[in-house]
Amino acid sequence: MSLTGKDKSEYVKKTFNSIAGNYDLMNTLMTLGMDKSWRRKVVKTVKAAPGLKILDVCCGSGKLAIEIAKAVTPIGSVTGLDFSEKMLEEAKKNIASSKVDGIELVQGDAMNLPFANDTFDGATVGWGLRNLPDLRKGILEMVRVVKPGSMVVSLDMAKPEIPIFRNIYWFSFKNIIPLLGKIWADKQQEYDYLFRSASDFESQKELAKIFAESGLTNTGYINLFGGVVAIVYGQKPLQ
Ligand SMILES: C[S@@+](CC[C@H](N)C(=O)[O-])C[C@H]1O[C@@H](n2cnc3c(N)ncnc32)[C@H](O)[C@@H]1O
Repeated sequence: MSLTGKDKSEYVKKTFNSIAGNYDLMNTLMTLGMDKSWRRKVVKTVKAAPGLKILDVCCGSGKLAIEIAKAVTPIGSVTGLDFSEKMLEEAKKNIASSKVDGIELVQGDAMNLPFANDTFDGATVGWGLRNLPDLRKGILEMVRVVKPGSMVVSLDMAKPEIPIFRNIYWFSFKNIIPLLGKIWADKQQEYDYLFRSASDFESQKELAKIFAESGLTNTGYINLFGGVVAIVYGQKPLQ
């Protein structure tokens, strides 16, 4: 099944509303527990520092927003945006139990960010871009709302450059998925979507190129776990 435009958005929203309650555990299993350390690297790459105002697009259950908030508060703040009300409910719970302040949650569409140009000191997106119906439009929106000189950073599945990592990862991924299917038997279709969207996503090299074509400079990527996952980044030029 290949969906585009509004159909893809509606499908993705329904999918995340349906798996929201299991998302954090599933994410930890799928990333073999490495998700937290990867998020911390994103915090560094976006250059989160005390007093800054950072946007986290497709914030989901808020885990990345919480890590960023630890770096920017008490004076700075994080705005987490997502269109799934159920994922935002999970984010509220996670924020409350983290006891971290300075996070505002906004229900909105990454394809049409409800913020003025040049609002934020940086923007992040974790495992989000591959869910968008128009990847380039999503990146352009992030570029639009950050101030000149700010970083735009994505953390997502990538294409391992070392073949052995690719084999190990896809082997474990393919075996974890059926395991999840056994735990939450009624969510098989949703897991299939996650697997397909991960395997179909752009390589880190291609995504960095798209970042450059979207007007960002100093673009590049950092491979994580042999390039199974990558942080892709770029800087909005100073005018
Ligand atoms: C795989 S989850 C990632 C959550 C989180 N960033 C993390 O690091 O775990 C993807 C999230 O993107 C959100 N999403 C997908 N398309 C979106 C869109 N067009 N606008 C806003 N949120 C969107 C989904 O609702 C979901 O919460």
